[in-house]
Amino acid sequence: MSYLTSARQAAEAYRQNPSALLLGIETSCDETAASVLRGGREVLSMAVHTQIPLHRKYGGVVPELASRSHVERMGEVCAAALREAGVRLTDLSAIAVTCGPGLVGALLVGVSYAKGLAFAQELPLVGVNHLAGHIAANYLTYPDLQPPFTCLVASGGHSHIVAVESYDRFTLLGRTRDDAAGEAFDKVARALGLPYPGGPALEELALTGDAAKYPLHAAFNEGPTLDMSFSGLKTAVVNLLHNAGQKGDLPDKASVAAAFQHAVCKTLTNKAVQGALRQGSKTLALAGGVSANRYLRALLEEACAAAGLRFCCPDFRYCTDNAAMIACAGHYALLCGEYSGFDLNAAPNLPLCGAQQGF
Ligand code: KG4
Ligand code: ZN
Repeated sequence: MSYLTSARQAAEAYRQNPSALLLGIETSCDETAASVLRGGREVLSMAVHTQIPLHRKYGGVVPELASRSHVERMGEVCAAALREAGVRLTDLSAIAVTCGPGLVGALLVGVSYAKGLAFAQELPLVGVNHLAGHIAANYLTYPDLQPPFTCLVASGGHSHIVAVESYDRFTLLGRTRDDAAGEAFDKVARALGLPYPGGPALEELALTGDAAKYPLHAAFNEGPTLDMSFSGLKTAVVNLLHNAGQKGDLPDKASVAAAFQHAVCKTLTNKAVQGALRQGSKTLALAGGVSANRYLRALLEEACAAAGLRFCCPDFRYCTDNAAMIACAGHYALLCGEYSGFDLNAAPNLPLCGAQQGF
């Protein structure tokens, strides 16, 4: 029997078994992660090896170092996920892996490893879009949550407002025209002299600042478009720091951080709530690494309450990159009848909502 025939049968068996075990693998950037889920929403284990110490001295992710580290750690991280879940490889019913978007060399490690496992165990393999994974982090946090809803996905590489029409159908409502929100956090954090990764460090510094001290605004904040832009805001911060330095002034870095954070989070909140209301959604969800930002969570919670929307955001452990969210998205992809062959490839620019939308 060919792999595709047996994989099709195994995928069918997966769909029939409500407590089937699925292994998820994530290597799109700087975390090597694996996770076992039962029945799609019950997380039995989450193993992760973070590369933050490896990249910190360079101030950002060095792709070649990331790929090499994934190669070194992939096997032990998967073994740890199985051990922590108390299951064996032979107990698994399916394998899901992030196939894009992300760093091509990093993605290839996870994709190749997942293919090897799927071949050896004759298991169905499903390639998962990393952003669909971030959205699925909400399913792990809210057992009752199901589409349709609107989701703001804010990560290091993307800032999208997405209509989640079903578990596997997404429409892009708006997006950043330049820097992603997380990218802007990282760049401004660097300008403020904070360590990588910049987002959490900037959030902490902002706690002691006064957001009203510096007038910073993101472009397109007002008006009907759901698109956003954070590059001008980032440049405004860099100029502010530069001008202060030239005059010999000591800028109040905590207040710069607070003003920047407020401008980004206000824009994300306004646009996401507008998007949800325009869609007629009852729920607005938040996803992606920036969803770990407490200031953003608070602004969205308040705005959703005022607009009569239910607000959902992932448990903190599912905010930044992890394999449980990939496993969950893979589960729903399998339920929707999708699975991948051994021609599955890493797709660094994989779109969430179809190539015609140009991202
Ligand atoms: O989703 P993620 O882990 O990786 C990508 O898919 O990009 O997101 C990482 C991004 C980084 O830019 C990081 O600075 C940002 O999320 N981030 C935060 C916070 N935690 C992570 N940004 C603001 N506040 C945070 N607490
Ligand atoms: Zn991510």
